Amino acid sequence: MNIIVCQNYDHLSDYAKDVVIDTIKTKDKPVLGLATGSTPEGMYRALIKAHQNNDVSFKHVTSFNLDEYIGLGKDDPNSYHHFMDEHLFNHVDIDQNETFVPPGNTDDHEKACRDYEQNMHHHDNLDLQVLGLGINGHIGFNEPGTPFDTRTHMIELDDSTREANARFFDSIDDVPTHAITMGIETIMESKQILLLASGDSKKEAVYRLLNGEETPDFPASILHRHKNVTVILDRDAASLLS
Ligand code: F6R
Repeated sequence: MNIIVCQNYDHLSDYAKDVVIDTIKTKDKPVLGLATGSTPEGMYRALIKAHQNNDVSFKHVTSFNLDEYIGLGKDDPNSYHHFMDEHLFNHVDIDQNETFVPPGNTDDHEKACRDYEQNMHHHDNLDLQVLGLGINGHIGFNEPGTPFDTRTHMIELDDSTREANARFFDSIDDVPTHAITMGIETIMESKQILLLASGDSKKEAVYRLLNGEETPDFPASILHRHKNVTVILDRDAASLLS
């Protein structure tokens, strides 16, 4: 595991942007796995800026998002589909037919999960997966206790995750209870993984990620088994590390 501690969130975002651009530039048909949430917002801003400066084109990029809330349509302002449109897709030259987010409002979730997996397989799997880190150690929405061998599946969100994400909704009651997420095994098949963690609220999770034992109780602990993981932290998130 390659660990980078950046001075602050802007540097973290800039570093992450460079890793993404490097993947885009070194592959003929780059396939990116993307995350939502607060942490990658700065990286997306930096990518948009790089695109505006003609430093990178997304023309040949395909993207698969990690997860989506069940019950939210793609135009719902709180859906991850909408988040991606707002934070990246509407601002770069990506082919919108090549951007995939798990469907939150399908009647047949099992089929949707199978189709999502097949689509990734058809695209020769992910070149780079960007991850945030849940305060409970989740990656994607794979909550503590999720078996390591899961593929894309539907899950019930932990109360702590719903509380952490309530800031985006009018009230906690509006936060969906379920989501579709890439599985842990799916994430681990990505050729490279980039995990970002920023801020004081992540310091315990970061400490456990880097010092704790491998256990499904802390899903991110599986990442030690992957051969190409870069963890980018800001100083606050790294503050418990010696
Ligand atoms: C988002 C995702 C989640 C978040 C995590 C951290 O697509 O899969 O695992 O990365 O909950 O969220 P933030 O960045 O908001 O702290």
